[in-house]
Amino acid sequence: MRLTAIITGASRGLGLALATGLSEAGWRLVVDARTPADLAAAAEWIGRDVVAVAGDIRDPTHRTALLDAAGDVDLLVNNAGILGPSPQPRLAGYPLDALRAVYEVNVLAPLALTQLALPSLRSREGALVNVTSDAAVEPYEGWGGYGSAKAAVEQASAVLAAEEPAVRVWWADPGDLRTRMHQEAFPGEDISDRPEPETVAPTIADLISSGRPSGRYRAADLVPVSAVA
Ligand SMILES: NC(=O)c1ccc[n+]([C@@H]2O[C@H](COP(=O)([O-])OP(=O)(O)OC[C@H]3O[C@@H](n4cnc5c(N)ncnc54)[C@H](OP(=O)(O)O)[C@@H]3O)[C@@H](O)[C@H]2O)c1
Repeated sequence: MRLTAIITGASRGLGLALATGLSEAGWRLVVDARTPADLAAAAEWIGRDVVAVAGDIRDPTHRTALLDAAGDVDLLVNNAGILGPSPQPRLAGYPLDALRAVYEVNVLAPLALTQLALPSLRSREGALVNVTSDAAVEPYEGWGGYGSAKAAVEQASAVLAAEEPAVRVWWADPGDLRTRMHQEAFPGEDISDRPEPETVAPTIADLISSGRPSGRYRAADLVPVSAVA
């Protein structure tokens, strides 16, 4: 039976790397991002059996379109996210409208999409991956907006794991990655020493196929099955 996954934010970065890996592993995919041209190019790169639905995950109509395109859902990967202003403001002066946007994209929209997907995930004993960050648990100066949003994602994930025994709920920290978001976090700095998302995606793909219990996972602690075999 062909399994279906929704992966948000799959036009670049970690989402694209993960989508490419899951497609190669035989998953049918529904992917999104806000920028249609980038998403179309990504879908072509990913290859077979991928449905691209451009839109903003904050938009309820778009979220419904993702579920409609998927039909039955075996896996939801809430990967799309934003950093917020770059450089990141300290909390003392963080513009609240910007903070609201960070929470909308990183916390509320993924939860809303999860709510839509849960009936299908429950009935198919599916799985939910919420992409988190070490900024959720470490009090880095300047990371209070993004970090507190990811902390909310983590606690919501933990409660979902308790409330939804039929669904695996993994909240996964990929570690630092060489992506556009990471460059925004370190404007003007050379981030070429950070790993490419393609190096981390296989560990998250292995987590998905592992059947491990719900919980928080760091990619750095997960040894890819493919590297062991
Ligand atoms: N990079 C790191 O070092 C790092 C570390 C820890 C955790 N993470 C997490 O990993 C995930 C992926 O990050 P990344 O570094 O790969 O970021 P990225 O390169 O900036 O990619 C973000 C993706 O999300 C999409 N997106 C952003 N806002 C969206 C919205 N409102 N609706 C739909 N799609 C949206 C973007 O496309 P559009 O802009 O076209 O919408 C893009 O496809 C995020 O959850 C991030 O917090 C990253």
